[in-house]
Amino acid sequence: MNILAIETSCDDTGVAILKIQNSKFKILSNIVSSQPIHQNYGGVFPMMAKREHQTNLVPTLIEALKLAKLINSKQKILNPKQIQKLKEIFEREEKLFEYTKNFLENYEKPKIDAIAVTYGPGLEPCLWVGVNFAKALSYIWELPIIPVNHIEAHILVNFLDSRFQILDSKKVFPAMALVVSGGHTQLILMKKIGKYEIIGETRDDAAGECFDKCAKILGLGYPGGPIISKIASEMKESNIKLPRPMMNSKDYDFSFSGLKTAVLYAVRDKKQDTITKQYVSEMCAEIQQAIIDVLLKKTLQAAKAYKAKTIILGGGVSANQELRKQFKIHNLEFRILFPEKKLSTDNGLMIAMAGYFNRTKKIAWQKLSAHANLRIGK
Ligand code: KG4
Ligand code: ZN
Repeated sequence: MNILAIETSCDDTGVAILKIQNSKFKILSNIVSSQPIHQNYGGVFPMMAKREHQTNLVPTLIEALKLAKLINSKQKILNPKQIQKLKEIFEREEKLFEYTKNFLENYEKPKIDAIAVTYGPGLEPCLWVGVNFAKALSYIWELPIIPVNHIEAHILVNFLDSRFQILDSKKVFPAMALVVSGGHTQLILMKKIGKYEIIGETRDDAAGECFDKCAKILGLGYPGGPIISKIASEMKESNIKLPRPMMNSKDYDFSFSGLKTAVLYAVRDKKQDTITKQYVSEMCAEIQQAIIDVLLKKTLQAAKAYKAKTIILGGGVSANQELRKQFKIHNLEFRILFPEKKLSTDNGLMIAMAGYFNRTKKIAWQKLSAHANLRIGK
């Protein structure tokens, strides 16, 4: 089967096509169009991201179909009923209505069997763009929809091994998944695929958000994680000491807003001419280490308590080189899984993988809607 996957929950427009034949997986394409516009603002503005998704979706889909060799030009005029229906679907995305209509009238239906799409959690206006795009394609091409939970997708992208087969689950479960992204920091106990329980999460900012906000305070740009991590990698030791909020609490919850505030105060109280390159580098190294210390300690504690065989990392922050290195040290006690770096951050392939595992949960497009606060395991 060929799954077309669409991801628009935040500021990355992702489209992937995954082919599954006799339990063998082939990634036909995985295209991510990021939105550099947010670099100027130090964070994502949902309405701006929505506008960018509308512009990016059709070109990203065309690129993905071309790479997968599944595209064929063919003129096909949509009838008035179809056009009316598309207008209804895209009631709030007028630009995307035009682009999609034009696309559907110029290319024939590709060899796709189902459309997987992120329906939550995420930024509501952004989610709706992807959801409505999936609805439109599903309606015209008469294909079923597989609704995908974005957090589950960050976990399940780990289940493709280096031979492009599914991991042997006997060696994986129970597993403790740490999903660390711009919007989430959750510890999720996973008894099997599809069975999840959130055992801890952040009470305020997510770990990625903390990276982003600290980078903004230091005037380093957006997204903060990759920038802070790059600067930190040039610094062996730091003389700055930041707090590790909730590191020793008995539960599995996190808190990162205090860390950001500590950085804010430290920078505010420093004379402008003493904020040297050295100081910024030391600050970056300490921010990164404070976040890693808390994530590592809580995850190991949870994995031990729940007798997990595996620790699974996912989400944008799991792209962090130092975090990966410090988790890997524990690979004698636990199997440590993390995605290839470009699969840690948002992408369509993770949605396709989750779509594959949820392939029996297909629905008709009329039943689909976006759920910004969707939770895993409910
Ligand atoms: O999963 P993701 O792409 O989007 C969400 O679902 O939120 O995660 C984005 C987050 C951003 O906060 C970004 O700063 C962070 O992941 N991130 C990193 C790194 N790469 C991305 N954080 C730390 N180190 C990195 N190398
Ligand atoms: Zn994500």
